[in-house]
Amino acid sequence: MAGKNWQYSSQDCLIDHIGTELSLIGVFDSGVGGLSILDEALRQLPQHDYIYLADSANAPYGEKSSDWIAQRSLSLCTYLANAGCDAIVVACNTATAQAIAQIRASLDVPVIGVEPGIKPASMQTQNGIVGVLATEATLKSDKFNALLATLPSDCRFIKQAGAGLVPLIEAGKADSEETLDLLASHLEPIQDAGADTIVLGCTHYPFLRKAIRKLLGDSIALIDTSEAVVKQLKRQLESLYPQEVNTDRSNGTVQLISSKDETVLLAMAQDLMRSDLDAHAIQAVLLGKVS
Ligand code: DGL
Repeated sequence: MAGKNWQYSSQDCLIDHIGTELSLIGVFDSGVGGLSILDEALRQLPQHDYIYLADSANAPYGEKSSDWIAQRSLSLCTYLANAGCDAIVVACNTATAQAIAQIRASLDVPVIGVEPGIKPASMQTQNGIVGVLATEATLKSDKFNALLATLPSDCRFIKQAGAGLVPLIEAGKADSEETLDLLASHLEPIQDAGADTIVLGCTHYPFLRKAIRKLLGDSIALIDTSEAVVKQLKRQLESLYPQEVNTDRSNGTVQLISSKDETVLLAMAQDLMRSDLDAHAIQAVLLGKVS
């Protein structure tokens, strides 16, 4: 319910959501990747309050077992729901692929997921060859392969797991030589196949745009779904809480929670995001124990 009182159980420092009539939105990722979704959310829906939860102590998720990903993602989304979130964005392709059905079945708030943009890519490609860069867990998942099976067979998808990229981005090395070298080897099969479009199928990868452009130039199309995901969130909020549309509030609050290091998360948010974070009251806290 929008506007209800809420309180954290495990932290003593809080941005006060009490008294605002707008929804509190939870955004969850294995680490800093979902900041690319939060960035877009602040652009389209700046008036809301946000809790961003980064499980950086456990990133990367993409090389872990399906059961582990599903259980951990459900625990953290339950934590966000208990913290009072009125809607939750699972800003992680890997967690969406492994856990979204279970999370939706367990929580009674709207839960929006992210999936690699293979459908828009299949409609935009000129030569019918599309590279898909995502985590191994996403590429192997039933959900991704079911989506792939719905697409026209005249479009060829070159699937490539981006092993090792998430830890480099988490370490603040998105633009480093090391990242460039690893990325070059991952992009080689996609480049060799002649793809004219690449799907950024992990929310960390939009932070590699500059590096990809450096390696492949400006003509290749890069597809990420953050804009569409936030539009979907906006539609859900408008239909559930129509009274919120008429707010005169311009900027809400952002609470950043990290399971690893809240000061690093804050610094990375300031570095990676294009939004003017100074326009929002921001607080960074360390995640307490989550059952
Ligand atoms: N941002 C997550 C995703 O979209 C990264 C997964 C990982 O931690 O490996 O898939």
